[in-house]
Amino acid sequence: MLLQSRPFLFSLLMLPALAMLAPLVLGAPWRVSIRPTGEAAAVLLILALAISPLKALFGATAWTRWLLRQRRAIGLAAFGYAAIHMVVFALSIGSLADIVAGMAWASMWTGWAAFAALLVMAAISNDRAVRAMGRGWKAVQRLAYPAALLTLAHWLLLTRDWSEAIIWFAPLGLLQLARLATSLRRRVSNGRTGR
Ligand code: HEM
Repeated sequence: MLLQSRPFLFSLLMLPALAMLAPLVLGAPWRVSIRPTGEAAAVLLILALAISPLKALFGATAWTRWLLRQRRAIGLAAFGYAAIHMVVFALSIGSLADIVAGMAWASMWTGWAAFAALLVMAAISNDRAVRAMGRGWKAVQRLAYPAALLTLAHWLLLTRDWSEAIIWFAPLGLLQLARLATSLRRRVSNGRTGR
């Protein structure tokens, strides 16, 4: 089935980018596409990070297995939107010197640092890298956690109304806490039964 194909899901997830960039064809300024592409990148990153806790909480069901299999496509789409976000931002500023100077602000360096983490993860998001890196591959993919924290900081620093950022990030925080509680409970009960 098509939905089992990673390239298909990646392409499907990237389709809304066309709508986000469409106003530019009609002459709108570059900056109109910064916000929607940033939000799409953040939401896909959150979804990719929610998959492990969902699997831990709900077990190996058909849908959690599907999400787990497709995690790489979702993560790559997060990077795809972040790359478009970065390009439209750079074009809206239009001067390399101004972009570099702007990196001194926390609202900007958090975005650049999140982007750098996503770039590293995307670069090794292929079967050859998985085989070549062995256990190290998973360790590098854990960069997704600092990337998400940096994205949250970037978002909060750029907007006065925090509600949207909180609405998207709170479920991820709760899922991670629930996963932690479940694994602690398992460890305690394994300790009691001596396993
Ligand atoms: C590559 C470096 C980055 C730069 C220079 C950058 C720049 C910006 C700028 C200027 C805005 C404000 C847009 C506006 O209010 O009109 C923004 C918003 C945003 N960016 Fe980034 N960003 C970067 C990386 C990222 C990354 C990696 C993510 C997510 C993974 C991200 C997610 C967001 C989000 C969620 C918003 C807020 C949108 C809103 O206010 O609703 N950004 N970014």
